[in-house]
Amino acid sequence: MQLPMNRRQWLKAGAVVAAGLAVQRDVSGVEWVISPSSERDQKFIRLHSNENPYGPSRRARRAMIAAFDEGCRYPSGHYEELKTLIAEKENVSPDHIILGAGSHEILHMAGVAYGLEGGEVLTAHPTYEGLEHYARMIGAYVHRVPLTEDFQIDLNAMDRRITQAVRLVFVCNPNNPTGRILPADRLREFCRAISRRTVVLVDEAYHDYVEAREYSSMIDLVREGYNVIVSRTFSKIHALAGLRVGYGLARPDIIARLNQFRTNHSVNILGLRAAMASYQDVPFQDFSRRKNAEARAYLYKVLGELGRRYIPSHTNFVFFHLGWDVTAFRQAMKEHGVLVGRPFPPYTNWCRLSLGTMEEMELFARAFRKVMGRKAAG
Ligand SMILES: Cc1ncc(COP(=O)(O)O)c(C=O)c1O
Repeated sequence: MQLPMNRRQWLKAGAVVAAGLAVQRDVSGVEWVISPSSERDQKFIRLHSNENPYGPSRRARRAMIAAFDEGCRYPSGHYEELKTLIAEKENVSPDHIILGAGSHEILHMAGVAYGLEGGEVLTAHPTYEGLEHYARMIGAYVHRVPLTEDFQIDLNAMDRRITQAVRLVFVCNPNNPTGRILPADRLREFCRAISRRTVVLVDEAYHDYVEAREYSSMIDLVREGYNVIVSRTFSKIHALAGLRVGYGLARPDIIARLNQFRTNHSVNILGLRAAMASYQDVPFQDFSRRKNAEARAYLYKVLGELGRRYIPSHTNFVFFHLGWDVTAFRQAMKEHGVLVGRPFPPYTNWCRLSLGTMEEMELFARAFRKVMGRKAAG
């Protein structure tokens, strides 16, 4: 049967344009797309979930369109392709890698695998709560160690809190919600020492945004055979949060343990193809990092003008001192069409703001000035 337009012609015609999507080109030549859904969502400017507003990349979009035909097949036969790509880049074998529906599923698997049968979990507070949430759900005890006065994860205090029952230590680096990084040498020393007693999971969801020299991934410890798991995601720099693809790296015996708690076929074929394309799309990653840095510099300027203290961030969000209750602030900003981050107790006078496009940041700044002005006027 002759179809009106075959897949190649469809792609050639530029499916993105055919679907009525507006394309913009960056000075570097990277094209990005404003989709109808993000325009629709501009009823609310989404600065609350640490998403990357510039994606999916053109290459990821093309890969997803090309994968439509594979939609009738189960995807797991293709998992090795993405694992092999990651394995080659990270210099490990594919059996050191597990895929998940976002890195959240990796945290879920770890929380359950190590929280069962009396296992306890140790984590900083506040930090990303995905893992501790699942550990609690299955009845595991979770030790929370407060941050230091300067909002750093307190590795010394965490070390002191470890009991014999602690089976998993969670370290988010860079940390969410603070955006701070741990110095690589100190974290490496901590992981080496602690992983002799228990497993350490280092959540590196924001790894690709970090440019600081004092930062390093802990994947080298996985390579060296330590009891360390590293989790990563395609939701941030790759801008695929809605596609749900993440991965974990660990020794093969640890991967096998996590695998027992994985949902079968949890990564779907469109997500898989998009992730593979995006993983190799270095210009898009550079572009996202650069746009993020521009938005961050702009936000620092706005916060400076309004006399707000902030924690210099290595991520796509900034934690700043609001000086009043963030729940009331969220509501006030929502009335101006801007969604900002949820409360992170005990820092309920602080706000976590995700970085959007420059247009979104300018709209945020306008609303923010109004809300702060009204608050000052009492
Ligand atoms: C530190 C951290 N880890 C993990 C996740 C989970 O992301 P995903 O499941 O989309 O990979 C997030 C999401 O915001 C995060 O901030």
